[in-house]
Amino acid sequence: MKIIKVADYDEMSRKSAEMFYHLIHKQPEIRLGLATGSTPIGFYDQLVGFLKSEEVDVSKLLTFNLDEYIGLKQNSPQSFYAFMKEHFYQPVGLRDDQTFIPDGTVQDPKKESEHYEQLIQQAGGIDIQLLGVGTNGHIGFNEPGTPFNQRTHEVKLKESTREANARFFDSKDVVPTRAITMGIETILDAKKVVLLASGERKAEAIYQLVQGEVSGSWPITALKNHPDVTLFVDKDAASKLFVNES
Ligand code: GLP
Repeated sequence: MKIIKVADYDEMSRKSAEMFYHLIHKQPEIRLGLATGSTPIGFYDQLVGFLKSEEVDVSKLLTFNLDEYIGLKQNSPQSFYAFMKEHFYQPVGLRDDQTFIPDGTVQDPKKESEHYEQLIQQAGGIDIQLLGVGTNGHIGFNEPGTPFNQRTHEVKLKESTREANARFFDSKDVVPTRAITMGIETILDAKKVVLLASGERKAEAIYQLVQGEVSGSWPITALKNHPDVTLFVDKDAASKLFVNES
């Protein structure tokens, strides 16, 4: 695993966006795996800036998002679709046929999950997958205890995750209880994985990833089985690593 230690959130956002920018520039038909959450907002801001200032051809790239809540309308402000539209699809000018995200409005999440997997396969797989991490080590919505051999599937959200995400909603009561997420096996199939971690809340998960054992209790440790992971970690999120280092 390549660990890039940075000072703060801004440096994490800029450096990771630079990496994506160079890859998009080199391979315009790249298939990006993308993530939501507060962590990647700065990344998207920076990436949009780079892509626009250099007038990069984005007409051929495809994006696949990790996850979506079940039960929110697509245009609900808290849906991950709405997040992506605001922070990336619209500012960059992507067409609808370039952007994929599980549909959380369907009656049959199992069927939708299988369909989403097929879409990824038909596109030829994901070249680079962006990830954030939950405080409890979840990736996408793969909560502690999720088997590592799952593809896209429906999940019941942990109460701790609903609490952590309640800040985006009027109250915790209205945070959806279920979601559709790429499985850990789907994530590990991406050729490259880039993980962003900022802030002390993420320090334990990052410690488990870097210095812990592979364990179902910390889904993030599944990344130890991937050959090409780059971790952009700021000082606070790295605060439990290598305590002897200054
Ligand atoms: C959500 C998403 C994850 C994300 C995590 C952390 O639960 N499903 O993909 O990594 O939250 O979010 P944040 O970056 O806001 O801490």
